[in-house]
Amino acid sequence: MAKKTVRFIIRRQPTPESQSHWEEFDLRWRAGMNVITGLMDIAENPVDRVGKATTPIVYDANCLEEVCGSCAMLINGKASMACSALVHKLEHPVRLEPLSKFQVVRDLAVDRGVLFENLKRVKAWVPVDGTYDLGPGPRIQPSTQEEMYPLSRCISCCLCLEACPEVNERTGFVGAAIINQVRLFNEHPTGKALKAERIKSMMGDGGIHGCSFAQNCVRICPKSIPLTMSISVVYGQAMRQALTNLFLK
Ligand code: SF4
Ligand code: SF4
Ligand code: FES
Repeated sequence: MAKKTVRFIIRRQPTPESQSHWEEFDLRWRAGMNVITGLMDIAENPVDRVGKATTPIVYDANCLEEVCGSCAMLINGKASMACSALVHKLEHPVRLEPLSKFQVVRDLAVDRGVLFENLKRVKAWVPVDGTYDLGPGPRIQPSTQEEMYPLSRCISCCLCLEACPEVNERTGFVGAAIINQVRLFNEHPTGKALKAERIKSMMGDGGIHGCSFAQNCVRICPKSIPLTMSISVVYGQAMRQALTNLFLK
C-alpha cells in the first residue's frame, strides 16, 4: 500500500533583503504529527517534492509545547503556533509563511524584537532595589492572584500583534500583549511603584489610544488571556490620569 503523504508549501527567503519564493515538500504522514515535526522531517532530508536538493527550513522553536512562544508563523494564512498545529486538523496542502508584520530573518524566522523593545518602554517589570535581602514582599490577596494569573500566561508569541489591524509601521501601536503587561504590573503591589510611568507611556504615541477595539487579539490569543478586559482597564487608568493632569494644571 502506498504510504500516505502530506504536502507542505513553504515561503522561503534566504536573507532579510532577498525576494521570497515557494518550495514544496511531500512528507510521510504520521498520526499526531504537527507542523514542527514536518519541518524536522525536511531538515533530516532536505529534498523538495521533485527530488531537488535544497536546504533545511529556518524557523524558531524551542519548547514544543506552546510555552516559549517562538514558533509563531502563518499556517494556511492564519497566525498560529506551529508546535500545536496538528497536521490532520489542517487544510491540505499546508501552506507556511513567516508572520507578515515582522522583518524576516530567514525563511519562517522573524525578528520580534519590537515586542521586547515595547516591554522595556512600558517598564514591564517589578522594580527591586539591589540584590540584598529586602525582606518579605507585600502580601497579595488570593482574589488578586486569581485575577492576575491569567494575565501572566503571555508567551510573547506575537499572534495578537499579527492579527491586530492597528499594529503597523504607520501607527506604531504597541498592541494588546504590551497593554496586558501594563495591567499585570500595575496591579502588582510592588510593580505599582512604576504605575504612573507605565500609564504615561500608554498615553503617548503608539499607546492605548491606538486600539480600535476590533477584538482580533482576544480571539487569536493561544493562552486565552482576557486582552480586551486588559485594554479596558488600562484605558480607564489612562483616562483617570489625563483628568488628574488636567486638574493639576
Ligand atoms: S482590540 Fe483590536 S485594535 Fe485593539 S489591540 Fe485588540 S486587535 Fe488590536
Ligand atoms: S497576549 Fe496572547 S497572543 Fe499576545 S503575545 Fe501574549 S500569548 Fe501571544
Ligand atoms: S515551540 Fe515553544 S511555543 Fe511552539
